[in-house]
Amino acid sequence: MAGMMQTQAGDAGAFKTFDLSRVPSPCFVVDEVAVRRNLSVLKDVADRSGAHVLSALKAFSMFSLAPVVREYLEGTCASGLYEARLGREKYGGEVATFCAGYKASEIDEIIGYSDHMIFNSPAQKERFLPNVRAAKNRVDVGLRINPEHSEGEVEKYDPCAPCSRLGFPVSRLDAEVMQGVNGIHMHTLCEQGFEPLERTWNAVKDKIAPYFGQLKWINFGGGHHITRADYDREALIAFVKDVREATGLEVYLEPGEAVALDAGILVGEVLDLPVNTMDLAIVDISATCHMPDVIEAPYRPAMLDEVKQGHTYRLGGPSCLAGDVIGDYTRAERLEVGDRFAFLDQAHYSMVKTNTFNGVPLPAIAVWNSKSDELKIIREFAYNDFLNRLS
Ligand SMILES: Cc1ncc(COP(=O)(O)O)c(C=O)c1O
Repeated sequence: MAGMMQTQAGDAGAFKTFDLSRVPSPCFVVDEVAVRRNLSVLKDVADRSGAHVLSALKAFSMFSLAPVVREYLEGTCASGLYEARLGREKYGGEVATFCAGYKASEIDEIIGYSDHMIFNSPAQKERFLPNVRAAKNRVDVGLRINPEHSEGEVEKYDPCAPCSRLGFPVSRLDAEVMQGVNGIHMHTLCEQGFEPLERTWNAVKDKIAPYFGQLKWINFGGGHHITRADYDREALIAFVKDVREATGLEVYLEPGEAVALDAGILVGEVLDLPVNTMDLAIVDISATCHMPDVIEAPYRPAMLDEVKQGHTYRLGGPSCLAGDVIGDYTRAERLEVGDRFAFLDQAHYSMVKTNTFNGVPLPAIAVWNSKSDELKIIREFAYNDFLNRLS
């Protein structure tokens, strides 16, 4: 499909041996061992570079694993009131909050949960600076800049695309805009390696250099695929050290995907096997309800036990949406009603985006430990979860 995002991960890892009938269907199953593997890579980067690494809740906010996340990372980054509260109450540590637009009715509560309040525009900063100053907790004020330097391959995921609303254009920074600011934030990457980060920094550093003296930190946002096998972590470590030395500033990174990369699957079940010109499979996983990025990005999730040659089916969800199609998948054996299957790399940006359109049930959430084989069904959802978000 034109504009289709490349699947960047999708290694089955320990899930190759997981018996899919051990959980209800549909169900997210997250391997704690894989999450710890990612977290220890991120902690190693933090320890060796001196960077502060925060876990981006927007990507992965499975708070039953919050104590695990906090064993390795310093805190969380939040996108507004609810995530800031989740970060403060369930995770602890530092909370860095950025929202494209804060509301006056929420601002004091958000500030109360946050260590860094990062504003998207000088106008929002001016408007809410008195609230920050009046807060009981000590809060740093950040400004998100727009580096005006595109590294994104897909416009929808490129905060530096033309007319982007995200971040204040770096070319327009001046002393007035920077008044009261002690941190600079930028987030421009999406599932990227190290080199785009370095190029972005080279594009902006001279423009923010005049303000280094008033700043405490610089936050390079997320989008760094640090835990992917081919990420140049040594270069990142050297880069962070260089930036710290050259600027005298603390450096923050707030990866989301990298925390949960290849750490979870979404298990589903075959409901029906109609034929219309080709073999179809209706399953209890819906693209639109359970993996909306399949349609939004769009991308094709990898499936456990896919083969190159065999029996090909077009999988689609139980909803009424004609476009609720996940993709075409080839299996060694013919599918049968009741068969289980699993999509790979579903821990991040799927669990946080689920919805109950069409009254489609939400997937259960389970934690598996691939070393001990212990399996815990953390949460199952029911009619009330659907009912309680309507009226
Ligand atoms: C401000 C900010 N920080 C962090 C992240 C996390 O990015 P990722 O999950 O791609 O690492 C995002 C993602 O959109 C973001 O907008």
